[in-house]
Amino acid sequence: MLIILKNIFNTISYIITMEKDTSWEKIYKKRGQVQSKIKQIVKDILEFKKSGNVLDIGCGTGRHSIFLADKGFEVYAGDISETAIKILKGKKKNIHILIFSKENIPFKDNSFDIVIIINVLSHSLIKDIKKSVKEINRVLKKNGIVVISDLSTEDEKFGKGNKIENNSFEKIPGLLDQCVHHFFTKEEILNLFKNYKVLKYYKVKNYFITHNFILEKVD
Ligand SMILES: C[S@@+](CC[C@H](N)C(=O)[O-])C[C@H]1O[C@@H](n2cnc3c(N)ncnc32)[C@H](O)[C@@H]1O
Repeated sequence: MLIILKNIFNTISYIITMEKDTSWEKIYKKRGQVQSKIKQIVKDILEFKKSGNVLDIGCGTGRHSIFLADKGFEVYAGDISETAIKILKGKKKNIHILIFSKENIPFKDNSFDIVIIINVLSHSLIKDIKKSVKEINRVLKKNGIVVISDLSTEDEKFGKGNKIENNSFEKIPGLLDQCVHHFFTKEEILNLFKNYKVLKYYKVKNYFITHNFILEKVD
C-alpha cells in the first residue's frame, strides 16, 4: 500500500515539475553541444535507404541530422528545447529546423520516408510514449522506416531512483535529476510498433545498454 501511494505521489510530482523537459534545456544552456558521435544504427540507414526525406525527432544539437544531410537526405529536425534548436541553427543551413514536441508533430500524414528518434522516447511517461508512436505512425509513409535507439531494462541503472510508473524512474543517481527515464524491453518496443517489420535489431552496451531498431511500416 505504502509503495503504491509513493508511486502515485512520484507520478503527480513528476507531472507538476515537468515543464518542457527543463532538464535538457538546462543542460544545453550550460554545456552547449552534448553529444557528437554518430550512432551506428543511424549509419545503418544507408543499407535500406539512399535518398528521401528524414524527420529527426528530439534532434538535440543535431549530430544525426547533420550526418544525414551530408549524405544527401532532405532533413527536418525538431526538438522541444529552444536552446538546442538555436545551437543547431547556428551550425547548419541545409536542414529544416523547428521547435516541436514529439506528442504533436506539425506535419501532414504520410510526409516522411524515414523517422529517427534516438534516446528520446525514454524521457516521457508511458501515455506520452504512446502518443509519440501514434504521431510517428501518422507522419511516416507506407514502407517508410523508423529508427529507434533507447534504454534497455538490462541497463544497470534500471530500478534505481524513484519509481514513477512501470519501468520508469526519476532522480536516478548519476543521471539528469528532473528527467524521467523509461527503460524498455525489446517486446515493449515491438508492441508499440505492431504494424512494422523488423529490418534490423541489436543491443549496444556503451554508457547505457540500448535497444537499436530499424523498422519498416508495412501497412
Ligand atoms: C538524450 S537527448 C538526444 C538528442 C538527439 N536525439 C541525439 O541523439 O543526439 C534527448 C532529447 O530529447 C528532447 N526531448 C525531450 N522531450 C521531448 C519532447 N516531448 N519532444 C521533443 N523533444 C524532446 C530533449 O530536449 C533532448 O534534446
